[in-house]
Amino acid sequence: MRTDQAVIDRAVALLQAGELVAFPTETVYGVGADAANPAAVGRIFTAKGRPADHPLIVHLPGDGGLDRWARDIPTRAWELAEAFWPGPLTLILKRAPAVPAIVTGGQDTVGVRVPAHPLALALLRAYAEAGGGVDGLCGIAAPSANRFGRISPTEAAHVRAELGDAVPLILDGGRCPVGIESTIVDLTRGDDQAPRLLRPGRVTPEQIAAVIGVLPEIVTRPADDGTPRVSGSLAAHYAPTTPLRFVTQADLVDVVDELRQTGRRCALLHHSQLPNASALHAGLRLPVDPQGYARGLYAALRELDQMAADIILVEEIPAAPAWAAIADRLHRAACGAGLATNDRASTTQVRP
Ligand code: TXA
Ligand code: MG
Repeated sequence: MRTDQAVIDRAVALLQAGELVAFPTETVYGVGADAANPAAVGRIFTAKGRPADHPLIVHLPGDGGLDRWARDIPTRAWELAEAFWPGPLTLILKRAPAVPAIVTGGQDTVGVRVPAHPLALALLRAYAEAGGGVDGLCGIAAPSANRFGRISPTEAAHVRAELGDAVPLILDGGRCPVGIESTIVDLTRGDDQAPRLLRPGRVTPEQIAAVIGVLPEIVTRPADDGTPRVSGSLAAHYAPTTPLRFVTQADLVDVVDELRQTGRRCALLHHSQLPNASALHAGLRLPVDPQGYARGLYAALRELDQMAADIILVEEIPAAPAWAAIADRLHRAACGAGLATNDRASTTQVRP
């Protein structure tokens, strides 16, 4: 792990020069640029191969500078910031004039969060102390540091594999402790209407309700039934290149047998103890608790994707609310898996 001050100083200098820096957050690694510098932010889109209408999250060192990035901030936003920042919660707010249109994909709203990873915070704070970027603003626009539509990186080596030389510096903070992206809550309807949950994550709707007294309206595709969806019916994202299919624990042995008889190599992602794994080409077991599972999920998908299997089977996860964010990611991965990058881009829906 390289966390010394010289590396942070170099990262700050690169950001101020309009270059990219990848860094760990508690959720996944991000690839960042000075959020007030449109040319720098443009480099992110080029490095990721991301369509220009996809908005980015602005990372801040604290909620102190929030009103320079957002306007008409509702009371609930301050309450949520107070309760969950630094932490894996992104707030969608009305955009302040200083935020370049390229950051927000041309929308009148902006996503902001304060990440909890010590290295991300050290970078953001050092950046603030050095005077920040353009106009003294101190925000780092950063999407997950993967090629568009692919699996988010949870280790520095994943970032290198995804983005290669497009990023001059990757801060290495080891494995990200949360492992899936932040919860996103849209508060632009103000204090009079329920906020909207755009992406489930570690911070749950119930935890949000405990702070603001109202449950967010869930507008993301419900992750309730564990069944695979028809390709294109939901956003293809977080996806391996190997086709991915769900299978119940009860069907597992039969499905693996059937596939083997047709000469296909199965890689399995499971959490239950298996009676006999010998028919498998490869298998990885994740912890049976949702937090442990989330922490290992993307690294496991990445590893299974590299095993030259014909199909990745994923043992169905529990249908309980605590697994909702994981179900969301797995369904999107199943939807995008096996598609060529161009196909994937054309079936990916832009989020609201
Ligand atoms: O955990 C995270 O949020 C990670 C780390 C690096 O902070 N970042 C991340 O960024 O997942 P990205 O760009 O991969 O995903 C951001 C999501 C996208 O789905 C984007 O559409 C949504 O946030 N988003 C950003 N700004 C938005 C806005 N103004 N309105 C609606 N959605 C927005
Ligand atoms: Mg992403």
